[in-house]
Amino acid sequence: MNGVYEKLLRCRDRVRERTDFTPRAAVVLGSGLGDFAREIQVECEIPYGEIEGFPVSTVQGHAGRLIFGMLSDVPVVCMKGRVHFYEGYSVSDVVLPVRLAGLLGAEFLFLTNAAGGVNPSFHGGDLMLIRDHIALFAPNPLIGPNLDELGTRFPDMSAVYDPMLQDVIRKTAEQYRIPLQEGVYLQLTGPSFESPADVRALRMLGADAVGMSTVVEAIAARHMGMRVCGISCISNPAAGLTNKPLSHEEVQETADLAAADLKQLVTASIVKMKDL
Ligand code: HPA
Repeated sequence: MNGVYEKLLRCRDRVRERTDFTPRAAVVLGSGLGDFAREIQVECEIPYGEIEGFPVSTVQGHAGRLIFGMLSDVPVVCMKGRVHFYEGYSVSDVVLPVRLAGLLGAEFLFLTNAAGGVNPSFHGGDLMLIRDHIALFAPNPLIGPNLDELGTRFPDMSAVYDPMLQDVIRKTAEQYRIPLQEGVYLQLTGPSFESPADVRALRMLGADAVGMSTVVEAIAARHMGMRVCGISCISNPAAGLTNKPLSHEEVQETADLAAADLKQLVTASIVKMKDL
């Protein structure tokens, strides 16, 4: 059997030794957004380190655990912390948690991240509904033998971010009066932030936000037929749009400021998604 698939099944078996909880939705929490996990009525928590083979983050602020529980009346699994390609993990390890959530039963995937604002009208603290992504600079997680058990060799990516889920999020934001930008997210590998010239180039390509995650997870999830949606927390104007140097600390601090709105938006949206 393919090594990537074998590892995935081993992780699923480890989780199944601990819980038979079947999530309907999976939520991936990005930098500084971990607070959301408090909304969940927890049934089972598993630190990533206790699942043999599961990638464990080396970045501060990304401490990882799988949290299974109820978000209102929706069974969810929440991935508190994720690993990034720049940490040196293979891209198949980076997307393992999302695939695992799919294997455990999650139909919906809600991705969140902290991102730099490439669109000059965005401000630090804005939330952006991801309408589409640019994957040209991200490693493709489907390279290698196709995992036929999960999906087809050449999956369609013409509507990665589910239009109905986008609508739910838009309506929820309106209902709760949470200002919501919309745009295209572009993933680079990082870990260095962009140069001002990088950011001008990305803007010309049609990006509104730039970050170091999310796109690979969205591709892996679509490959297996999950319905995907995502929100970026714009933690800073991207390099060159202000004359302030960028720092991981600033990213986390700003993400913390937006956390309350994001938490409300994610929670209320997931509760509505269950009727789709
Ligand atoms: N660039 C890339 N990734 C990021 C940024 C940024 O400016 N802010 C938060 N994540």
